[in-house]
Amino acid sequence: MGEPPSLVEADGPARAAAAVPEGLRARLGGDPLTQAFATRRSSHWFARRPLPVDDPAATWEALLCVPRTGKTVAYIHVPFCDNHCLFCGFYRNPAKGRFSGPYVSALVREMEREADRPAVRSAPIAAVYVGGGTPTALEAADLHRLITTARTHLPLTPDCEITIEGRVHGFDAERVSACLEAGANRFSIGIQTFDTTLRQRLGRKADRAAAERVLADLRDRDRAAVICDLIYGLPGQTPETWRADLRTVVDLDLDGVDLYALTMIPDSPLALSIDKGALPPALALDEQARLYAAGLETLEAAGWRHLSQAHWARTPRERNLYNQAVKERAPCLAYGSGAGGLLAGHRYVLDGDEVSYRQRIASGEKPLAMMFAPADDLPGQAALSASLETGRILPGRLEALVGAGFAAMLAPVLEHWAEAGLITPRPGGFALTRAGWFWQANLIVGLQEMLVLFHNGPPEPSSPTRQEHPRHARHRHHPAG
Ligand SMILES: C[S@@+](CC[C@H](N)C(=O)[O-])C[C@H]1O[C@@H](n2cnc3c(N)ncnc32)[C@H](O)[C@@H]1O
Ligand code: SF4
Repeated sequence: MGEPPSLVEADGPARAAAAVPEGLRARLGGDPLTQAFATRRSSHWFARRPLPVDDPAATWEALLCVPRTGKTVAYIHVPFCDNHCLFCGFYRNPAKGRFSGPYVSALVREMEREADRPAVRSAPIAAVYVGGGTPTALEAADLHRLITTARTHLPLTPDCEITIEGRVHGFDAERVSACLEAGANRFSIGIQTFDTTLRQRLGRKADRAAAERVLADLRDRDRAAVICDLIYGLPGQTPETWRADLRTVVDLDLDGVDLYALTMIPDSPLALSIDKGALPPALALDEQARLYAAGLETLEAAGWRHLSQAHWARTPRERNLYNQAVKERAPCLAYGSGAGGLLAGHRYVLDGDEVSYRQRIASGEKPLAMMFAPADDLPGQAALSASLETGRILPGRLEALVGAGFAAMLAPVLEHWAEAGLITPRPGGFALTRAGWFWQANLIVGLQEMLVLFHNGPPEPSSPTRQEHPRHARHRHHPAG
């Protein structure tokens, strides 16, 4: 461990800003929600640059022989969509022709083949996420076959969360029934906005009435948690359309909702349409912040529980287990073209070319595209991010995980963030304010930078680099999430 830098030497109320490393400083005196920082940072983990393993196939074979420990999840990727929505970076293959059966057959073979290996069968799996793309675009019989295979060949916990991600368009009663009969117990449905004009502009096929009807039907089946995703910051979105979207979610009595800030993907159809002037610009950061705060306010007033920055629950049915486990860097067994996993610290990504993925499955191979050796994490690194996910900063707990002296080193930073209106004192530490929730990623990166300083001293130019989580490597993620 290196010497902690001399951040605690300054004194008095002004010391905080002066003693805080520049990148962690928030603007004082303005509206914290819209002005605390100039940009939102990306909260990916800091780690030593992960090195690709020399022989991924041999490493994979060795990893499969080792019993797994600790809470684990599974991710199954379905990289097909009916169309490419303008804003989305996850689109890979058109859901056209006979895509469903052959793809699910390959997934089934992949799962069956590994089912008896120690790394798979040795310990329970707490959550399975069938994500995309659009899993709900699969044929009903294939959805049934896929979920049944996961339940048969993965050692699921009795209360395992089994999520099917999808969209309203094409998710008919037969597909819904197939999912439920096979054992799905959570639906994560991308809505983005209920506003029909905005939806059409983004390439969404169903209108408001259809979106509401599908969600209400899922809810009325009363057999699975129903969650929907909304995006704030869309071109042409207004405080009124956003409030109407939030009201619709509340009125629909869904189990949960995820609110995501629009990520503008360079060269996406959305970015190109805006550049051409065919669409109005996406909302500025301060406008995004106000919409997020309106979300917090509306859901809080309606009695929803705030689970993490982007996730809310109305009922105990929404547990959000998969997303939480990914944030905690739990092992993740991955299946399907383009899926990302994490096993015994090794990140891996499967072949993103769907045809090649199926060919390699047919030839008996695990279709690995990339595999990296375990990252050299700093003590307390995962716990630091996980703690802020819940909206709390508890310096005593962090010190126990990171090392003696960390709380003292953090003190001026936390004092400064409190003065800036981002966190507020609570017994044992601090809680995020509304502004703090919006800027959460900046605070996480800030804490990670403090951790690096604590352990290593000031960084060398070639020192720590950022690392993405595997599932998120395939889209922005993820998500996720
Ligand atoms: C992997 S997508 C799959 C969703 C599903 N196929 C659909 O059409 O709604 C999962 C979620 O990521 C979010 N997402 C996709 N692109 C995004 C972007 N550019 N910015 C923010 N969120 C995005 C959306 O909310 C979406 O529902
Ligand atoms: S939003 Fe969904 S359906 Fe649209 S391109 Fe992205 S993953 Fe596919």
